[in-house]
Amino acid sequence: MSHSVMILIAAVLLISSAATTSAFNVTRMLEQYPEFSEFNGLLSKTGLAAEVNRRRTVTVLALSAGHVGGLSSKTEDVQKRILSNHVVLDYYDTTKLNKLKNGKAVLTTLYQASGTADDQQGFINVIHNKEGHIIFGSAEKGSQMNSQLEGVVVAQPYNISILSISSPIIANGIDGNWTPMPPMSAPSPDAASSPTDDAPASAESPEVTVTDADAPSSDDTSPNPAEAPADSPNSPADAADAQQKSAAVVSGVSLAWTVALASLVAASL
Ligand SMILES: *[C@@H]1O[C@H](CO)[C@@H](O)[C@H](O)[C@H]1NC(C)=O
Ligand SMILES: *[C@@H]1O[C@H](CO)[C@@H](O)[C@H](O)[C@H]1NC(C)=O
Repeated sequence: MSHSVMILIAAVLLISSAATTSAFNVTRMLEQYPEFSEFNGLLSKTGLAAEVNRRRTVTVLALSAGHVGGLSSKTEDVQKRILSNHVVLDYYDTTKLNKLKNGKAVLTTLYQASGTADDQQGFINVIHNKEGHIIFGSAEKGSQMNSQLEGVVVAQPYNISILSISSPIIANGIDGNWTPMPPMSAPSPDAASSPTDDAPASAESPEVTVTDADAPSSDDTSPNPAEAPADSPNSPADAADAQQKSAAVVSGVSLAWTVALASLVAASL
């Protein structure tokens, strides 16, 4: 066999292995939509495009030109952290989002996989509210829940889905600024005279639609009506309570993950 034939075979093998390691190219996909060019540029600049392409099953929550907001003025490091919260490590298209169990789910993002997330910063909540809107927000306490699903950009089941959302998902503290949480018990005189500028009240945004999120929708086929009242927070206090409960569930999930990972590691030793 001549050298040139062997080189040719090697080249073919190399190309086909490259093709199988990356099923899609998110940059090329987004290039077809000029309104996402800034978002696309940010994905490339931060190196996240390559990380998305390495995944087999992924959802990108994309921001069109009018929705990138203050993201463009952040440092590259902060941009990367925030945008990695827009990469969900599972495939979600509108069909799947419309069929969420109990109208809500907690999604794991690439930020969680980075290992630098604090608390629940690596997770986002998605709710399907009774108005039929699908809303995303960070699972981290004190974050806003107001990024609404606007449409489908690309759906390539079950590998990559690119969805358009109305505003960046900013986990509380992800950019180094923590929104203080309202005190759990009666505030001490010290806490009350805290010199912080941000009023604790701003942690609970009036835009938060969580209060309605768990109300049974008209197409709720749950056979157990007794579930509804317990599951329908009506006052802000209830909503906060529900948020804490969901946070507790999430910690359980992370714990399960840790245990699963630990047993994997143990098994491979
Ligand atoms: C799509 O994802 C599945 C697993 O989720 C994987 O087996 C398949 O190879 C992927 N498709 C492509 C074209 O890579
Ligand atoms: C993805 O597409 C972009 C733009 O078309 C290109 O510059 C880049 O090299 C591609 N990446 C891969 C891994 O093929």
